[in-house]
Amino acid sequence: MTQAALDLVIAALETIRRESERGPRASRAVLARLQSNDPLALPLETLASLPERPLQVSQNKEGLLTAIRERVRSCTKCEHLACSRTQTVFGVGNPDADLMFIGEAPGVDEDQQGEPFVGRAGQLLTKIIKAMNFAREDVYIANILKCRPDTPPGSFGNRPPTPTEMQTCRPYLVEQINIIQPSVLVALGAVAVEGLLGIRGTMREVRGRWHTYNGIPLMITYHPAYLLRNQAPSEKRKVWEDMLQVLERLDRPISERQRNYFL
Ligand code: URA
Repeated sequence: MTQAALDLVIAALETIRRESERGPRASRAVLARLQSNDPLALPLETLASLPERPLQVSQNKEGLLTAIRERVRSCTKCEHLACSRTQTVFGVGNPDADLMFIGEAPGVDEDQQGEPFVGRAGQLLTKIIKAMNFAREDVYIANILKCRPDTPPGSFGNRPPTPTEMQTCRPYLVEQINIIQPSVLVALGAVAVEGLLGIRGTMREVRGRWHTYNGIPLMITYHPAYLLRNQAPSEKRKVWEDMLQVLERLDRPISERQRNYFL
């Protein structure tokens, strides 16, 4: 069995665990067999010596994410992006996060640093996360695309991902979500919504209310880059109100100061 197939089996187990009252349990022996590249190769005496104490599959989230990160690192499905990228940008944060943010695609800063949301828009996102009383390390941040969309030499700025690029890269994000199993997802901007849900609504129609992705509550809000372009306090307040809804959904305490906060 290939590692990719194993990752899929494990991600499917994670989904069953999330969607059923009593999640699947795997003994240490079975997990060790699944995680070895050749599950049948482990000698019987090794298996016999492993304790049969049941282990929740979710204890290995970090390992599962690392396996996908490695596949992403060597991905060449979009040849043009594999040629143009400095590196892939997989995702960052707590594999056990309750809250997961989904953006569009790496920009120039992210492509250079290998981490999502580290440029100007990223700094604003970090500010929003902190105002919500989370540290960046508490949440998980990922993009629809793991490579920076290429731009013609000498041109400036970013280009949005194409539908084909999004379709090609989406399975990696789906696997990330299946493993992390956040309680709440936040999609940042119309591209993230299209990449995740496959719908092309205008932000005015879809923002600020609850949707679901695969049974997980999903809040749609503006992308921080939009707030950088449009500095109107009313737009910033809308994003903050969306984040207050997220905090409520997560049962997090909200102070008076937070209620009155403007980004
Ligand atoms: N914009 C995004 O959507 N993602 C990033 O990682 C950076 C900017």
